[in-house]
Amino acid sequence: MRSPVLTVENLTVVYETEQPVTAVRSASLQLGRGEILGLAGESGCGKTTLAYAVNRLHQPPARITGGSVVFHDRDGGDIDLLALKDEALRRFRWSQLSMVFQGAMNSLNPVRTIGYQLDDTLKAHAPEMSRAERRARSREVLERVGVDAVRLRSYPHELSGGMRQRTMIAMAMLLQPQIMIMDEPTTALDVVVQREILREIVRLRDELDFAVVFITHDLPLLLEIADRIAVMYRGEIVELDTAEQVHRAAKHPYTRKLLESFPSLTGDRGDFVRHGHGEERSA
Ligand SMILES: Nc1ncnc2c1ncn2[C@@H]1O[C@H](COP(=O)(O)OP(=O)(O)OP(=O)(O)O)[C@@H](O)[C@H]1O
Ligand SMILES: [Mg+2]
Repeated sequence: MRSPVLTVENLTVVYETEQPVTAVRSASLQLGRGEILGLAGESGCGKTTLAYAVNRLHQPPARITGGSVVFHDRDGGDIDLLALKDEALRRFRWSQLSMVFQGAMNSLNPVRTIGYQLDDTLKAHAPEMSRAERRARSREVLERVGVDAVRLRSYPHELSGGMRQRTMIAMAMLLQPQIMIMDEPTTALDVVVQREILREIVRLRDELDFAVVFITHDLPLLLEIADRIAVMYRGEIVELDTAEQVHRAAKHPYTRKLLESFPSLTGDRGDFVRHGHGEERSA
């Protein structure tokens, strides 16, 4: 792994309901700069809870009861995310770490154009930018994710599901964060569009060198696109290794079971998505 951009240590998150649920139990992981880290596991194992807690977006009854989350910036400074005050946290969120939420493509405002919504996000998080700069940046990110800039004038209902999802990814990229957490970003899309978008994400990462935490229950898909894979089971990270190694020699019985449930997964890892992407990064 390359130098880390994020270190999570022994993070524990509890839903303090009548019967408290420990949704994340002492989770530890490091995210390398420019790395695609896959986070897999069955429904309810705690993936979204972990992502929200890392970003401090969790709401009561969820509470972080232990552990640490540290961001390592390019200049070698460390930021303790669990200690950041509100204003600093707000600034940190879009500029350094952004998130594409589960089901996000349905959360665009239906009565505002795509252009308005991108512009609005920039206005809120980059007040120093001029109107012209914001417009240029909005066009640029939209085109980067494969959506024609004429779509800035479109309303969400005028776009396909794939385009809406690309727009959400563009929004997460607006301020060029070091880390993007994507929670099931393609699950609702058909397989062809899903593949196109994944290929796009890998290409963008190669170009722009941000790190991605890619959350999905689809382990085979992660074998194709991820450098390393973490598998969660009942709130714990039970596996964390290179995609290569997970494919070849998964350690945890649950991971092996997951892999066995996809009998077509034999031989080499697929390279449908990863074309042109060297293996040296996963070392
Ligand atoms: N608001 C809440 N109150 C109480 N328990 C919750 C709450 N939200 C989630 N949980 C519990 O926390 C656990 C983890 O949920 P989480 O949504 O993080 O799972 P997930 O891995 O993202 O699942 P999925 O793949 O379905 O998105 C589950 O057992 C869930 O029931
Ligand atoms: Mg989830």
